[in-house]
Amino acid sequence: MTSARKAYRASILHSIADPAEVGIEASYEYFDDGLLIVSDGQVEALGEAESLLAELPAGTEVVEHANGLLMPGFIDTHIHYPQTGMIAAYGEQLLDWLNNYTFPAEREFENPEHAAEVADVFIRELLRNGTTSALVFGTVHKASVDAFFSAAEQRNLRMIGGKVLMDRNAPDYLTDTAESGYQDSRELIERWHGKGRLHYAVTPRFAPTSTDEQLASAGQLLHEYDGLYMHTHLSENRDEVEWVKSLFPQCSGYLDVYDHFNLLSERSVFAHGIHLCDDECQRLAQTGSAIAFCPTSNLFLGSGLFNLPKMEQHGVNVGLGTDVGAGTSFSILQTLNEAYKVMQLQGAKLSPFKSLYLATLGGARALRLDDRIGSLAPGNEADFVLLDYHCTPLMQYRMQQARTLDERLFVLMTLGDDRAVRATFAAGQCVHQRD
Ligand code: GUN
Ligand code: FE
Repeated sequence: MTSARKAYRASILHSIADPAEVGIEASYEYFDDGLLIVSDGQVEALGEAESLLAELPAGTEVVEHANGLLMPGFIDTHIHYPQTGMIAAYGEQLLDWLNNYTFPAEREFENPEHAAEVADVFIRELLRNGTTSALVFGTVHKASVDAFFSAAEQRNLRMIGGKVLMDRNAPDYLTDTAESGYQDSRELIERWHGKGRLHYAVTPRFAPTSTDEQLASAGQLLHEYDGLYMHTHLSENRDEVEWVKSLFPQCSGYLDVYDHFNLLSERSVFAHGIHLCDDECQRLAQTGSAIAFCPTSNLFLGSGLFNLPKMEQHGVNVGLGTDVGAGTSFSILQTLNEAYKVMQLQGAKLSPFKSLYLATLGGARALRLDDRIGSLAPGNEADFVLLDYHCTPLMQYRMQQARTLDERLFVLMTLGDDRAVRATFAAGQCVHQRD
């Protein structure tokens, strides 16, 4: 067994706090000539290369990474793996897009071979883009989740996923029942939750596609097992919000539907949250729930037009999500490019260091995994990426003009995509090598 210690010499950057809480300067650590020492899949040490090299046990392999940046692997807090094959479908409104593209694509997952094929493509695509952890929707089919977790387990990735619960307002071919959804979820939880680096998320698609009975059974599951996540959509589109009001007249608003069924906790993650009032933001903060900000998910006239400053004011945890396939890119770098624009359109700012935080430590905090991933603190799992400043002729040329770290970081986030990811590591093992 080679639990071999290995060291990586590079410019190293990681986020250590939320810039909104401590200011930009105190929010990150940067080593221009840094060394990351990895052993047994964990970060053993991080610091200046000069001092750490002097103490490195003789014979330790040192991998050099020039003209780039080593940083923690990206964390995607909302994505649908079954929608990989329908990314970039032309959509006008959420509910039409679901009926016309999404449901037919998800139907194919009744075939386990199809699920295995897509799971493999999906995981490779995440890794090609430097994403090492994600909170992932399956389909209503149990086998979709088996395929996803098998693909993640093979590569020893820290991943969260779950079977969609959906017992109404969807085609018959794609619905479960409150009872079968509960039993299938239990079976998957028993099989996968806590196995290796995997976690289970109870996953009602969104309030309109579950009956009261099913939402109650989701609450029951969360009560029965420790450490489960709850993953769903919230307040993404105006027609959807109105629909929820008409379906649940006894509740005071969209979030209140989930609250009513005890679905709000520290491990609850809601995608979008575009049309939330102050009371709803406050309730999210109070319960420690998180929102996944999905800026590329603008297919439906604004699913990504998220009010980050309002969430910050209320102290709501926020992670970044790609929301593939409504979202249009697997790349967290491209997602940050769009996030910057979404903020600007609303007269707000998004600094490169806040972006770095959202994509790494902020995501880990939203998922309550910041004691393991999201930064390169010693003892954390060694999930990291090597980014390449010379990945395209334009990026290389642009970087020659860049004088400061924040300038280089912003260029990476604006021009960068999968081509900028030279290699991706999970628990210290290389899981993607670009060339
Ligand atoms: N709301 C319910 N289902 C979905 C979905 O698959 N994608 C998005 N973006 N919103 C949803
Ligand atoms: Fe989504």
